[in-house]
Parts: sequence; C-alpha cells; structure tokens
Amino acid sequence: MSKSLIQFIIEEQRHMGASGDFTGLLSDIISACKQIAHAVNKGDLIGVLGSAGSENVQGETQKKLDVITNDIFMQSTEWGGHLAAMASEEMDEIYPIPAKYPRGKYLLTFDPLDGSSNIDVNISVGTIFSILRCPDGVSNPTEKDFLQPGAKQVCAGYALYGPSTMLVLTTGHGVDGFTLDRDIGEFILTHPQMKIPADTSEFAINMSNRRYWEAPVQRYVEECTKGKEGGREKNFNMRWVASMVAEVHRILTRGGIFMYPFDTKDPAKAGKLRLLYEANPMSLIVEQAGGASSTGRQRILDIQPDELHQRVPVILGSKNEVDRVVGYHQGA
Ligand code: AHG
Ligand code: MN
Ligand code: MN
Repeated sequence: MSKSLIQFIIEEQRHMGASGDFTGLLSDIISACKQIAHAVNKGDLIGVLGSAGSENVQGETQKKLDVITNDIFMQSTEWGGHLAAMASEEMDEIYPIPAKYPRGKYLLTFDPLDGSSNIDVNISVGTIFSILRCPDGVSNPTEKDFLQPGAKQVCAGYALYGPSTMLVLTTGHGVDGFTLDRDIGEFILTHPQMKIPADTSEFAINMSNRRYWEAPVQRYVEECTKGKEGGREKNFNMRWVASMVAEVHRILTRGGIFMYPFDTKDPAKAGKLRLLYEANPMSLIVEQAGGASSTGRQRILDIQPDELHQRVPVILGSKNEVDRVVGYHQGA
C-alpha cells in the first residue's frame, strides 16, 4: 500500500510525541503547493503568465505568478493557528498573523516561486519553504525573531513543478521525496531517504558571470572544464537550469555541485541567493542527504543572519567536490 505525505508526517510526529501542530502546518503547506502546481500547470489557459509590472523588495521585476503564488502560500497557511508570523522573498516586511486568527508557535519563510524567469518558457519552477520555532515567550514576533541560523530549522522542503510535481522535505531525519498523484490529489512517498553521492562529475554555475568570480571558483571551474587534460581524474559535464529547485533536485537524484558564488558584478551584494528563503532550506536538505553546503568560507547553516532579505554565496552538493572548493578558498 502506498504511503501519502500526510500519513508519513503523522507517523514521524507520533514517534516524536508531537502535538499535531506541526502536522497541521505541513498539511496547509501541502495544500498551498497543490494549488500552486495547478496554477503553474494551467499557465496561459488561465492567464497567469507574464510580468506583474511591479518590483519586489530586492528590486527584481515580479512575474504575475510571483504575486499569485505568494498570495496562495499566505492564504493557505495564515488561518490554521500554527504560525505566529511568516516572511517571504516577495514581501518587504514580515507578516504577523492577523488578530482574527489564533497564533501558533512556528515561523514560516518561503520563496513562493523559485526560478520564476523560467515560467514563461515552460521550464521547471518550484516553491521553497523553511519552518522555524518562534522563540519562547514571543507572541508578537518581529524581524529579529526570524534571524536564526539555518541549523535551527525544524523542517525545510521544496515543491518542484516539473514533468511531475514533487515535494521533498526534511524534518532532520534524512530527506524524503513524494510525487503528486493528480488522480487522487495526494503526494505519495516515491523517493524514501534520498542520498547525494559524495563524488560527482557534474557542475552547475552561471558561466556568464565567470569574469566576476573570485580566484578559488575560477580555479575550480577551470579544472572541471579541462577535465582529464587539466589534472582532474575525470571529465566533467555542466548543467544550468536557472531554477535552484530543479538543480538541487537533480543533485539529490544523481549528485552534482551547484554554485552561485560571491562575485564582483554588484559589490553591494554578497551573493544572489537569499539566506532565509533559499540557501538555508536547501542547505538543510542537502546536508540531511549527506551532501555539504558552504559559502566557500563558512558552513551556510552556521551563519547568524543579520537581516531578513540577506543574500549569501552558495556552494552545495556532493560532499567531496564542495570540500574541494572550500579547500581552494582556504588556500587562497
Ligand atoms: P527567483 O526566481 O526566486 O528569484 O530565484 C532565481 C534564482 C535561482 O533559482 C537560480 O538558481 C538563480 O536565481 C538563477 O540566476 P541567473 O538568472 O543569474 O542564472
Ligand atoms: Mn528563488
Ligand atoms: Mn522567487
């Protein structure tokens, strides 16, 4: 008999003696991801493609679906009584749960539509989420309550809207993957205990930024592209989807290294990807699957955030390759 995501979570929580609050929150998140899968899948049939004509707090042009998916995620999770507040890549400020709903003990951060530059060309996109505990004694959370190192996440996950819709998550006991069966409307456990191989011969980076990278990343990519003729024991392949969710999913499936490193393109930015909505949840998933995740200089999950929309360099995936890049930073 196949196991649904909800059954999986209830059984896992039962072992931990949990109250059911967490299961309730997850169930609201699952419902949001199913609704987003539906909107993304219908595309132009329901007129959701194209630009919204607005900008988010990071100065990026919003797609209609960035706004729609943000609303779906908020509306699906605000009412349940499990959250005290939430924060999103697409909202300037944190969103405390309105007084008309009960407040719960968790904080939620999310990137409602990751890879949104791909949506109009019908390439995979995703949703990334992270659950933190609201600090003890705090009933009216502020931004600073969200500034917790990634190692404190209670749960992290993503939904991938690709040829199949999948939901992959960790609660700190490994990583499990579920596929949406549209006929019955349930996510079914199809990828139990996903593991990232320690070695790989596939790297992912936006090569157009090459001239802006620092020396350690230049060196690493140069060696990969030279392969056997450049001192590595093997030749490498390259991929770049421009949807982090799709890249991480590929790495969870067959290994690889993903880099959005520090670059000097815009010296005001420490990196492109956002710590609370992208880097932290993906780092927890990758580490729980046996991989590694670093800025090049520091383990991402150890970073003490100092602002909500903080950006960080990200180097994650197969452990031996990430360790190699980190080693190049140490030697530099
Ligand atoms: P988002 O669509 O949420 O803004 O995130 C896009 C991110 C990430 O998913 C991807 O890896 C990266 O930006 C792609 O950046 P480039 O367009 O610079 O390649
Ligand atoms: Mn994103
Ligand atoms: Mn996004």
